[in-house]
Amino acid sequence: MIHARNFARRVSHARLAALVDPHGETLHAACRELEVETGYADFREALADPRVDAVVVVTPTALHREVVLQAAAAGKHVLCEKPMAMDVRECDDMIDACAAAGVKLQVGFMRRFDESFLAAKERVDGGEIGDVVLVKSLTHGPSIPQEWMYDIRKSNGPLAEVNSHDIDAVRWFVGSEIEEVYALGGNFRCPQAAQKYPDFYDNVAMVCRFADGRQGFIDGAVSVGYGYDARMEVVGTRGVIFVGRKEQDSVVGCSSDRGIVQKFVGSWRTLFTEAYYGEDQDFVDCILEDREPRVRGIDGRMAVAVVNAGNRSIVERAPVRVEGRKA
Ligand SMILES: NC(=O)c1ccc[n+]([C@@H]2O[C@H](COP(=O)([O-])OP(=O)(O)OC[C@H]3O[C@@H](n4cnc5c(N)ncnc54)[C@H](O)[C@@H]3O)[C@@H](O)[C@H]2O)c1
Repeated sequence: MIHARNFARRVSHARLAALVDPHGETLHAACRELEVETGYADFREALADPRVDAVVVVTPTALHREVVLQAAAAGKHVLCEKPMAMDVRECDDMIDACAAAGVKLQVGFMRRFDESFLAAKERVDGGEIGDVVLVKSLTHGPSIPQEWMYDIRKSNGPLAEVNSHDIDAVRWFVGSEIEEVYALGGNFRCPQAAQKYPDFYDNVAMVCRFADGRQGFIDGAVSVGYGYDARMEVVGTRGVIFVGRKEQDSVVGCSSDRGIVQKFVGSWRTLFTEAYYGEDQDFVDCILEDREPRVRGIDGRMAVAVVNAGNRSIVERAPVRVEGRKA
């Protein structure tokens, strides 16, 4: 709905032609809100609609590959939400299908369009902190996962659903590939999932070694309750850069019984509003200007490779090498 609202109300040079959802109530509510006349229960109907030039794929992750392959075959440009897919083979299929069809494939790492992340990258690239040595990135989410996310086989767990963004950001800032990871996972806050989904973890800590020896650290959590927490620290040979804020707004309350009180950021929806808009607008501009998207299939693919290695590391309790890019 974040993307749909952007395309309906803000993105220039594009029109929201149709919405798709097999769940009738969801579809009708969305069509009503966005004043879109065409709603399809099956995505294949949208792909057959000649008015559709491009699609945004926001189905649960396990369905991304199938929708993207069929979109490419129908000649539609694709913005696919993260995580790109379930494993690297699926990602390679998607990259190859879009390349063969000559359509754009952009992956939904919207932090690459966020003003603060972009400003930090510019300062790092400008040499302000010397050479990058270590990038630490954390994302803690407040919400209780949806049922499909508890099932690691259907979602690849919080490393995929939450930390894909951190993996991409760390990789983007270091500018090299993650070669090896060691991850620890545990379920500390979701007892309701423990029996039915014994593999589910709601907290993860993962260290990463890059191909050139530099270091990354990723910290992930769901159901934290206190707010949406997304922050990064870039440690260099001559300094450090911090990215991300904790405060929802600039309102500070102070009382004798509670001390200083300020609201924590509530949701990624508000924290990254402008970043989502930026990625949606750039997707359309890429198509019109016929240029490569800022976040490409290979970026989505490398993040998925790290997710899979991290999940294996949790199970095997050992460092795991990341599956490299195919030749
Ligand atoms: N970039 C981000 O910050 C961000 C944020 C949230 C979710 N996501 C990603 O977006 C994807 C969806 O996540 P969500 O939280 O919105 O999930 P969700 O379960 O809330 O929504 C998925 C929607 O897809 C619909 N759907 C299911 N099968 C479908 C099909 N075959 N065809 C069309 N629609 C279908 C469902 O009815 C539902 O409305 C996931 O890959 C998730 O990781 C990304």
